This record gives sequence, C-alpha cells and structure tokens, in this order.
Amino acid sequence: MKRVSLTQHLVEQQRLHNSIPAELRLLIEVVARACKRISYEVSKGALGDILGSADTENIQGEVQKKLDVISNEILLEANEWGGHLAAMASEEMESIHPIPNRYPKGEYMLLFDPLDGSSNIDVNVSIGTIFSVLKAPEGMGEPTEEAFLQPGSAQVAAGYAVYGPQTMLVLTTGQGVHCFTLDREQGSWVLTQSNIQIPAATKEFAINMSNKRHWQPPVQRYIDEMLAGKTGPRGKDFNMRWIASMVADVHRILNRGGVFMYPADMRDPSQPGKLRLMYEANPMAMIVEQAGGAATNGSGRIMDIQPHKLHQRVPVFLGSKEEVELVTRYHAE
Ligand code: AHG
Ligand code: MN
Ligand code: MN
Ligand code: MN
Repeated sequence: MKRVSLTQHLVEQQRLHNSIPAELRLLIEVVARACKRISYEVSKGALGDILGSADTENIQGEVQKKLDVISNEILLEANEWGGHLAAMASEEMESIHPIPNRYPKGEYMLLFDPLDGSSNIDVNVSIGTIFSVLKAPEGMGEPTEEAFLQPGSAQVAAGYAVYGPQTMLVLTTGQGVHCFTLDREQGSWVLTQSNIQIPAATKEFAINMSNKRHWQPPVQRYIDEMLAGKTGPRGKDFNMRWIASMVADVHRILNRGGVFMYPADMRDPSQPGKLRLMYEANPMAMIVEQAGGAATNGSGRIMDIQPHKLHQRVPVFLGSKEEVELVTRYHAE
C-alpha cells in the first residue's frame, strides 16, 4: 500500500482544489497532533491518572470527567502558539478562549468537543474529539462570542478523532470526507479511506430508546414504523445501535449507513435536544453532507441555523439521506 500521510494529503488537496491554505493546513495538523496526545492519554486507562470524575461541573451542568478536562487542556495548549488562530471555544469552557497576547493571532477560530462520549471513558468503550473551524469575521478586533455565532455552512473545516480499537481521524475541508488511521509505531496519520460516501438507504438506526415517552409525535411515528419491521409500513426489518458517543455512532454510519437521532425532549421545552449546535451538530452535519448524507433538526438543515449562543442545543437527525428526509417530512406533516 502506498502510504499517504495527513500532510501529503492536505498539500495535494491544496494543489487540486486550492481549498487548504498553509495556515489552515497548519491548524489541522496541530489539531491532529493534539488528538494523537489525547489518544495516548486515553490508552493509559487505569495506568494513568485519567479515569473517573474531576469533581467539577461545566456550563452544561454536567459533572466533568478527568479526561474531559485533560483533553480540553491538550487542545488549548497545542493550538495557542501556532499563530493561526484568533480564539477557541469548547464544550468545557463557559466563554471563549482568546489567544493570549504573548502569541501572534491568526484568522481562524476553532471550536471543539474535546472528549465526546464521556460516559464511555470508564468502561473502555469508544470515545472521540469533535472540531469545527470558522474564519474570524473581516476586521475583527478583540475576539467576541458573537464572532463565533456563524451558521455551520460557514465552516471551512470539520472533523473528529475516534479513539476505538484503532484511533482514526475523519476530516473534511469541503472536498469530500477522508479518513486517516493513526500508525502508533511511526506516530503518523495515514490516509486509509478517501471520499467516503454514506449509502442513501439503510436498515439501521441509532437513538436512545429510553427517552421514547418524551419524544414528539413525528419521532414516535417514525420509530414505531421502523420497529414494525417487514410487515409494517416500511416493509423491512431495522436494526438498532446506540454507542452513547456521537463520534462512534456517526463513524459507524459513515461506514455502513444508518440514521442517528437525538430529538428534542418534551420534558424541558427550553432545551431543544441534548447535543450542542456549534461543536457537535455543525461539524458532524458538514461531514455527513460531504459524504452525501443529510443533517436536519427535524424542520430544516442544521447548517442553515443562525446560532444565538455558543452552547446552544439542537435536535439532531443525520445520516442516510432517505431516512433523514423521511423523518424530517414527518415533522412537517
Ligand atoms: P459529551 O460526552 O461530549 O457530553 O456528549 C455526549 C453526547 C453524545 O456523544 C451522545 O450521543 C449522547 O450524549 C449520549 O446521550 P445519552 O446519555 O442519552 O445516551
Ligand atoms: Mn459533556
Ligand atoms: Mn459530545
Ligand atoms: Mn464532550
């Protein structure tokens, strides 16, 4: 197999499509390097001081795991000094993180979910890191939270790392979706899949079924029809998977099709769903669309939503196009 490294891939994409300026390439490589560090920490498990709770709470009201905090620090530290960023924002920080004055500032802004699937950490099940890259608004002085409030369609790059049996990096800069496997012996990211395409039809869905009684009628109908199987209105049997890490669930769907859902919950009308728009839904939506799939909030395209706050939540339906279109149609009916 001819080995293409992440760097070579990014340089070649720039030559082909003129879509990855040197600064953006540097940014992506630094994020990838940070993910390599996180992967290394993850793999220590009980042999390192990385399992369990940090006994602190984040802005979402979730108890932080040690690894949430460690991963956040790794990403901040790695990305501060390169000169390619104006500011960062993270699930684990209430407000944005401007680049300290001792470093030069760049034209990009980075958002991340440093550790996705926190409940999986202590049980050695796949987890990940999600990131999204935006451009700072023209002529921006001191970075502000408002500067980050751009729709997902403005993203210039998005990706995730999945820490599973292998560590992989899945990346898009708007020219398809490409996957790299971490070669632990060489310490390098090697291109292992190019132009990933999600099959339009599927027989698999991913949803936390324990919330069923709280879903709205369109979601109830959609899932009931799938559960009815061959003799039901869908005329086929469906299988269900729920890994409790969006990264792992999306990775599965990217490779074999499927539909992933985290709908709004009728328990608390002020919280539209669980997942966060800016650093979970938007980057995943960009990846899924770039792979030929679809991503909506039940009524419209996720990437068209104008955000109004950094930690905003959003209902999510994404994956195989035919399924996402169907469940979105049920919302309209
Ligand atoms: P995070 O660990 O970054 O807070 O995100 C967890 C999210 C997502 O990864 C996953 O799909 C979902 O929460 C799991 O939710 P349940 O607890 O309802 O299974
Ligand atoms: Mn969390
Ligand atoms: Mn998450
Ligand atoms: Mn997280």
